[in-house]
Amino acid sequence: MLSVVQGGAGRVPGVSSDDAWIAPWWKLLGRRYGHVLHSLCSYMGSFPPGLPRYFIEQFSDLGDVVLDPFSGRGTTALEACVAGRVGIGVDLNPLAAILTDVKVDPPSYEQTILRIAELERTYRPAPVGDRAPPEIRMLFEEGTTLPQLLHMKECLDPCDRIDRFLLASLAGILHGNHTRDVVSSRCLSVSMPNTFSMSPGYLEKYIRTKGLVRPPFNAFEKLRLRMAHEFAEGMPVRRGRGLRGDARLLSKAVAPESVKLIVTSPPYLNVVRYGKFNWIRLWLLGESVSNVDASLQVEKTDRRLALSDRHRFHGYCGFLRSALTECARVLRDDGTCVVTIGDVINKEHGSRTLATEVWDAVKGDVPLDLAAVIIDDVNEVGKVSKIWGEGHRGEATKTERVLVLHKRGARMPKPRHRDPIALIERIAAGEHVEKPARPGVVRTAAKSASPRAAKARVVTSG
Ligand SMILES: C[S@@+](CC[C@H](N)C(=O)[O-])C[C@H]1O[C@@H](n2cnc3c(N)ncnc32)[C@H](O)[C@@H]1O
Repeated sequence: MLSVVQGGAGRVPGVSSDDAWIAPWWKLLGRRYGHVLHSLCSYMGSFPPGLPRYFIEQFSDLGDVVLDPFSGRGTTALEACVAGRVGIGVDLNPLAAILTDVKVDPPSYEQTILRIAELERTYRPAPVGDRAPPEIRMLFEEGTTLPQLLHMKECLDPCDRIDRFLLASLAGILHGNHTRDVVSSRCLSVSMPNTFSMSPGYLEKYIRTKGLVRPPFNAFEKLRLRMAHEFAEGMPVRRGRGLRGDARLLSKAVAPESVKLIVTSPPYLNVVRYGKFNWIRLWLLGESVSNVDASLQVEKTDRRLALSDRHRFHGYCGFLRSALTECARVLRDDGTCVVTIGDVINKEHGSRTLATEVWDAVKGDVPLDLAAVIIDDVNEVGKVSKIWGEGHRGEATKTERVLVLHKRGARMPKPRHRDPIALIERIAAGEHVEKPARPGVVRTAAKSASPRAAKARVVTSG
């Protein structure tokens, strides 16, 4: 079976037909849907949590292993654990690996608060001196904020579960825009974007021309406030793993034929320089920006160059050929592999459908078959919104193509839910059907219409 749901001219599947699942139903959940931990630290190119959640509900069962081999900030792995599956994320970027790992294996709120208190107790104000480079010193106030931050950077051990969680949380509040009253800002730096770091040279000019001030934020206090926010909904019921590794060598980290579902989005032709754009966060983690970008094979390119350059396109196909072959290796025979790739907009050649062009180039060499392509665009949102009711309209972004694949020679697994609208309503209401993953995890029974409140009832006790 190969079904393609077109965004513009194609059909809208009937809500009760066998292929009703083949539409971007997750758009109805909107960008705001998802566990609070997703926003622990921003990351470029991340999934809306509803996308992996939709496929997790359709193509995996409680306790199954769900994997993202390009995990980024760990959206798939976290949604899997929230839904009672074992979420695994693999990424070459050390920032991505740590963000994924802390979300799927968090400590308790009490442990983090005790550790912050200990860090505060052992803190002795000391001059910054050469403990921080000039490009870091220009961002943080040097009497209170930077000495406290340096103390935590020097004491926190990334191999320790509690410390790792605090480091990832600090990375999330390291820089960002100030609130109007400044004191209640959720960041430690001068006022600047939270999503990415501008280059040091650009930032220096930006701070000078805008006359930006470095307020004396108390880093311990900001981190404590952040903990209260992150633990407000309780932690995911299942535990998982976030690993640093190469998707092209996936089977070194993940057992063959162990994964029920893969939901992933590979980097698009090196459009994003994950190291360079995260240089402040990588400094906190003690990682080298150039090593990160070199390992991710970043080249200076952009979307305009992308598909008009056949050489680079062939390189990209080779990269995905290796990664998809490894995905097939770790996938169970009854498994499903969902790969999202955005269209490339090129002024000379118009809009190019990178996902299907790549698939056409690699399909002969990869032991997977294509079952469906779901086109996730504005028009499709309009159509599914009409079926569900206008009040539930989701937020549309650019066009993404979602390839739904299965093992070659095996049957495409049947979706678990025939009625996608009922499924989306259940997800929106926070009705996830999980069981406690281990002693110490408590689930209460009451129901509520609010997804936030419903999820808050799933709590870890220690
Ligand atoms: C589009 S992002 C994925 C974002 C993710 N879906 C999320 O929700 O956060 C692509 C990711 O691929 C990672 N990456 C690039 N090359 C890789 C490789 N060879 N192996 C593993 N990860 C890689 C990048 O570090 C980046 O985090």
